[in-house]
Amino acid sequence: MEKTERNAPCWCGSGKKYKYCHSAFDDRLKRFAAEPYPVPSRDLIKNEVQIEGIRASSKINIAVLDYVAEHICMGMTTAEIDEMVYQKTTELGGVPAPLGYEGFPCSCCVSINSVVCHGIPDDMVYLEDGDIVNVDVSTIYNGYYSDSSRMFLIGDVSGEARRLVEVTKKSLEVGLQEVAPWKRLGDMGAAIHEYILQNGYSVVKEIGGHGVGLEFHEEPFVSYVSKRGTEMLLVPGMVFTIEPMVNMGNDAIFIDEEDDWTVWTEDGSLSAQWEITVLVTEDGYEILTY
Ligand code: MF3
Ligand code: CO
Repeated sequence: MEKTERNAPCWCGSGKKYKYCHSAFDDRLKRFAAEPYPVPSRDLIKNEVQIEGIRASSKINIAVLDYVAEHICMGMTTAEIDEMVYQKTTELGGVPAPLGYEGFPCSCCVSINSVVCHGIPDDMVYLEDGDIVNVDVSTIYNGYYSDSSRMFLIGDVSGEARRLVEVTKKSLEVGLQEVAPWKRLGDMGAAIHEYILQNGYSVVKEIGGHGVGLEFHEEPFVSYVSKRGTEMLLVPGMVFTIEPMVNMGNDAIFIDEEDDWTVWTEDGSLSAQWEITVLVTEDGYEILTY
């Protein structure tokens, strides 16, 4: 950690003197740095200006998903969902973050039934009666990133599938109870994992959440099969996603060889995911996107 002179401007960019800003914070962080798990680097700690930027981006992300929620319906193609996301995001002054991201061809991911995540919108794929569908939206606004996804039920969905979707949503609340400064990220992941296992489902290990805000994907990797007391320390100003992927069968997955993106459950069982972006605050958390 670089040392800052007490009367110098704080490293966080707040414009305040260091002694009135992150000085006490740095002293506290030093005590955790001795533990075997990581503490966040300074570039993961957002200042007020950056948080405002991420909030503004998040507002668009929420509005886009609200718009999708109003219009999504049986018989629609997943390409039509993509078109809605593109139109609404750009109308509100944003840019869809997935578009062109590592070669991704569309503005959002649409993942139906046994697709775990990263489904590519397609004008040949129709929403059918009984489908459970994840729409994952990410926005860049003024250089700031936000990211969230929701599940949608199409027509008459079986009780079994509904329960998967509801338990997955509830798991976010369970995880959120563990988000507070000076706790470990692994506490959150463990809480979600335990809750999902209790309900008879499994959690995907290989893909998780991520820091977000100044870039699409920042440190840390956010696991939902982690152990309590492990993983990165949470401190005020960190922003990351909570986005567990929950399978009705076992946790094995594979990536589609045809498109190199679509992730499927290996056993063909249903998979659900909800995603929110959260900010760690002085006394807990604030949900930025949902
Ligand atoms: N929105 C996804 C996430 O939660 C990102 C998918 S990458 C994309 O991290 F290129 F497929 F959009
Ligand atoms: Co994400």
